[in-house]
Amino acid sequence: MATIIDGKKVAEEVLAECSREIEELKVHGITPGLAVVLVGEDPASQVYVNSKVRKCAELGIHSEKVVLSKDASQDEVLATVKRLNEDAAIHGILVQSPPPSQIDEEEIIRTIDPAKDVDGFHPENVAKLALEDPSGFVPCTPAGCMRLLEASGVKTSGADAVVVGRSMIVGKPMALLLMARGSDATVTVAHSRTEDLAEVCRRGDIIVAAVGIPEFIKKDFVKQGATIIDVGINRVEDPAAKRGYRLCGDVDYKDVFEKAGAITPVPGGVGPMTIAMLMKNTIKAAQAL
Ligand code: GUN
Repeated sequence: MATIIDGKKVAEEVLAECSREIEELKVHGITPGLAVVLVGEDPASQVYVNSKVRKCAELGIHSEKVVLSKDASQDEVLATVKRLNEDAAIHGILVQSPPPSQIDEEEIIRTIDPAKDVDGFHPENVAKLALEDPSGFVPCTPAGCMRLLEASGVKTSGADAVVVGRSMIVGKPMALLLMARGSDATVTVAHSRTEDLAEVCRRGDIIVAAVGIPEFIKKDFVKQGATIIDVGINRVEDPAAKRGYRLCGDVDYKDVFEKAGAITPVPGGVGPMTIAMLMKNTIKAAQAL
């Protein structure tokens, strides 16, 4: 039976560190500031953006929420980013992904000042992660996954880790973090084209699931005693639920529970960690001044 990895609890620890660091900055007359840009009306994105802004308020981080219409032009989004790049009260800028289809997200990301890129998506920060240069920003979700592994005492050194998913937001940075010096895992990156995915996943002492398919990882994908980090947050229809849907991960939690050694729940696993690491990155941006 699996130990449940409590993301809410570990996130509280990270946020307590954040509070101390914010106090320290305020002694020096600096209030960290985060700008969150949402283009369009995607309901899940609205929830994420609002929870980021709420967390800033709880901690005493200044925040600015910019909402642009779903048919905003590329130039409007670029102008917003450029304005925020120049704003001394803003240390971190985040443009919620994915934007509507008329927006070239790559160009938006490249326009964010790398020193304010608290998502860690700018090519300069991607390069720093690959180079293991600690001055860069590490994307929040994979950084949160690493912190969960550490806090749970999961041994990564020499372990076989399988990352399922190759996105720039999670899969690729997660693989780099796991293989970096100090973490020292042997990493396999699997994805939608991987042959015999179940067999590949069964090699993993650690599985990080970031495929975006509800309850995709079943118990036949899992080695006995493996640690499972479930990055998925999927809405699936559920007429019995108050809102008409329920949240589930990319892992079939009930199916794998007996076989896994440790597992993150959804909700209450990786989700709270992502926000906590965003707060950390915003503070790091303010400290770098
Ligand atoms: N959409 C899903 N996760 C993220 C994230 O970490 N940052 C941004 N900007 N958008 C996201």
